[in-house]
Formats: sequence, C-alpha cells, structure tokens
Amino acid sequence: MARVRSGADPADATLEDLREAAAVCRNCELWKRGTQTVFGEGPRRARAILVGEQPGDEEDLSGRPFVGPAGRLLDKAMAEAGLDRSRVYVTNVVKHFKWKPQGKRRLHEKPRLSEINACLPWFEGEVGTITPDVIVCLGATAAQAVIGRQFRVTRERGQFVPSRFGTAFGTVHPSSILRAPDDETRRIERARFVEDLRLVAQRLAD
Ligand code: URA
Repeated sequence: MARVRSGADPADATLEDLREAAAVCRNCELWKRGTQTVFGEGPRRARAILVGEQPGDEEDLSGRPFVGPAGRLLDKAMAEAGLDRSRVYVTNVVKHFKWKPQGKRRLHEKPRLSEINACLPWFEGEVGTITPDVIVCLGATAAQAVIGRQFRVTRERGQFVPSRFGTAFGTVHPSSILRAPDDETRRIERARFVEDLRLVAQRLAD
C-alpha cells in the first residue's frame, strides 16, 4: 500500500504505488509484446486527464506517454488552445504497445475489448487518485472505454458528458490528423482539434 512520509500527500504515494504495480502487470498478454508498461504522467493535482488508446513505438521505447509524432502534435495543439501540458495528466487506456511486425517496423494493432478491460483498473486508479474535473478522451478507443461503447467521436465530439469516471469530453486522436489524406484536410482537422481543446481550456478557466 501507499508509503506515506510525514507531511507528504498520501495520494502522491498512491500514484507512485500504482505505477510500480502496473510495471509488473500480467492482467493480459500484452506485457509480452511491449518493452515496458507506459504509465501516465503529470501532476497529481491535475484538473484534466488526457487519455489516448495505447502507447506507440516511441512511447514503448521511452516509457513515456505521447512523446512520438502524435504527442508532438498534441503538445503544439494544446499550447495553441491555452492548455499547458505540464499541468495536465496524460495517459492511455491500454498501457502496453500492441504491435505486429511489418518488415523492420512495428505496426500499431488495435487492442481488443478484453485487453482494454484488463487494463482499465490502472486508469480507474489514476482517475481515483487525481480526481480531475474533466477527462479528455483522444479518439474512439479512449472515448468508448470511458464514456461508453455507443459513443461516436464524429457525432459527439466537443461535448462535456457524464461518465462512470466523472465528466468526460471526446475528441479525435491526434494520429488521425497525421493520417489525413492531404494537407488541406490535415489543416482543417488540426484546427477543429485545437477548437475542441480550447473548450477544455475554457472549462478549466471557469
Ligand atoms: N497514441 C496514443 O494513443 N497514446 C500514446 O501515448 C501515443 C500515441
């Protein structure tokens, strides 16, 4: 259980304990494929949690969430929207990289529902410790795990909705912007993403 030093915030210890326990998680088979558990990071008192699907190649190697191409886009979009990454907590619903080989590359593979469910206790622990005002779900996998299977990002993005984890907000995954078929679509989708994040920044400023 939490190691509490005198004067320390017990919840800080809890987050560290969760991270240590998740590092040796065997709740599903994905630990065999990933290099390491990629736990969330950010301040314990963050008022927003941003949650993605699962770590990618760079995240798997570095052990940190959203540090690859999608993370760099996210950082810039957040800055434009007035959200400071150092003040939010960033994590994923699945904490191991699921991939299949394609030549020398490791290709992202979508997690199964059973793998998402096996990993959710860690997210529950993160939310329960941080108690954010809002959970920003990046992409359909995160939104469906947090808000519900019926959630459709295309239809319901940009709205604050109740969820079993507290107030949630769904938007697209930054990778979907990187995958846009042409520059013009990418520009439009990126601007919409910044607008969504701006709604979150406004909510936190209220
Ligand atoms: N995509 C995610 O969903 N999470 C990451 O950490 C990186 C890419």
